[in-house]
Amino acid sequence: MHIDKYERTYLIISAAVLGAFFAALLASALIFDVRLPTTTAFINPNTLSETEFANPGLRNRGNGQYDFYIVGQMWRFNTGSTEQDPELGYDIVRIPVGSEVTFNITSRDVTHGVLIEQHNLNIQLVPGHVGRQTVRFNRVGEFFAICHEYCGRAHQNMFFKIVVEESAAADA
Ligand code: CUA
Repeated sequence: MHIDKYERTYLIISAAVLGAFFAALLASALIFDVRLPTTTAFINPNTLSETEFANPGLRNRGNGQYDFYIVGQMWRFNTGSTEQDPELGYDIVRIPVGSEVTFNITSRDVTHGVLIEQHNLNIQLVPGHVGRQTVRFNRVGEFFAICHEYCGRAHQNMFFKIVVEESAAADA
């Protein structure tokens, strides 16, 4: 079979690029241990009251480490915080700078999402699944966590604010 010289060249280049991508994929998974954020546990959304999610909030594990349980629902994040924005009512969560927080988030009703601006947390919240991700808060500042999956009429109201501060009055 005759293959044109240029066609052959482009076939080789295409195969080489695909091969390089596949090698990069294997290297990231097997050598650098890169994992996509994924469901870490299953949970029955109808019986959250019998789990850690019954009392959402920050749990201090000591040594600057926290577990944070959050329930997403139409159309708010229940963070267990007692502090709300006086005008709009969204939760405000205070975290001491330098903390390492393991988020455990689930949905009570429909599919939501959560993303913390300027931090490495972006999870889809599927009912029945627990999303877990550890985030280090190294910078003082105010960061919104927003729902990024369209979840109904008041989707745009579904967010909360994380205040990273020097000396926090975070609930222990
Ligand atoms: Cu919840 Cu959009």
